[in-house]
Amino acid sequence: MKTALVTGAGGRIGRAIAVELGRAGWRVGVHYRSSEDGASDTLAAIQDAGGDGWTVQADLATVAGCTDLVQDTLARTASLDLLVHNASRFPEVRFEDITLAHWDGMMALHARAPFLVSQGLLGCLRAASDARGGEGALVVHLLDIGAERPLNRHAAYSVSKAAWKMLMKAMAVELAPAIRSVGISPGQVMWPEEYDASTRDALSRRIPMKRVGSPADVAHLVRFLAEHGGYLNGVDLPVDGGRSSTY
Ligand SMILES: NC(=O)c1ccc[n+]([C@@H]2O[C@H](COP(=O)([O-])OP(=O)(O)OC[C@H]3O[C@@H](n4cnc5c(N)ncnc54)[C@H](OP(=O)(O)O)[C@@H]3O)[C@@H](O)[C@H]2O)c1
Repeated sequence: MKTALVTGAGGRIGRAIAVELGRAGWRVGVHYRSSEDGASDTLAAIQDAGGDGWTVQADLATVAGCTDLVQDTLARTASLDLLVHNASRFPEVRFEDITLAHWDGMMALHARAPFLVSQGLLGCLRAASDARGGEGALVVHLLDIGAERPLNRHAAYSVSKAAWKMLMKAMAVELAPAIRSVGISPGQVMWPEEYDASTRDALSRRIPMKRVGSPADVAHLVRFLAEHGGYLNGVDLPVDGGRSSTY
């Protein structure tokens, strides 16, 4: 059974990724911060689909939370085939209202946490690669097309996603061939809950495909990368219906 850890998997896109891996028969660590019931539901869906796994709580905006997640993972498995950094926050804040706490919080969750957790799990990622004849373990980073094109009223989010994108590339250069590092940049795949119908319509019209994507679009890509994407490394793949190709 291959083993994965998916952060922020108590709902939405993280859950879709974790359950898709369950369909492929994986053992999946379902990380959550506050969505304990959601994480239990994700684990039940993984088991129904034929996989297995565990749940783990950690606040990844703190160093202690990152350390806890690493220690818990090391206690559960000596070998990790796939690490999916998905946990994120998307708060709207006007530039003049950005506080130091907001700025540092975004950088902590979107740049420091993927670094600390990846670094802490290097040994078991390398062990997974060795166990498969050097086939290579995989780290997937859920980025955003906003890492290249800043989103209005999301400056700290956009800057921190850009830092995260550089981490994805730095890992690809330094850790291959034992570990591949690949980014996925959704466009509009799942609406923030606070967006009203007119905002959703206006944003949808700007997508060449004229519709939003779905969490399954991302989940299928993660599974493809893990099962067939063995020569993909250091790239950021947009899942955006063509949105990032327009101006
Ligand atoms: N939705 C989209 O269309 C879209 C577009 C572009 C990029 N993305 C990216 O795709 C990924 C998934 O998107 P999403 O909309 O499904 O994400 P989301 O619902 O906004 O967040 C995913 C999870 O992150 C966890 N999280 C938040 N703060 C945390 C913290 N301090 N420590 C640990 N976990 C924390 C939350 O866990 P709890 O609920 O357990 O607290 C949450 O369930 C994200 O990286 C996002 O930036 C999504």
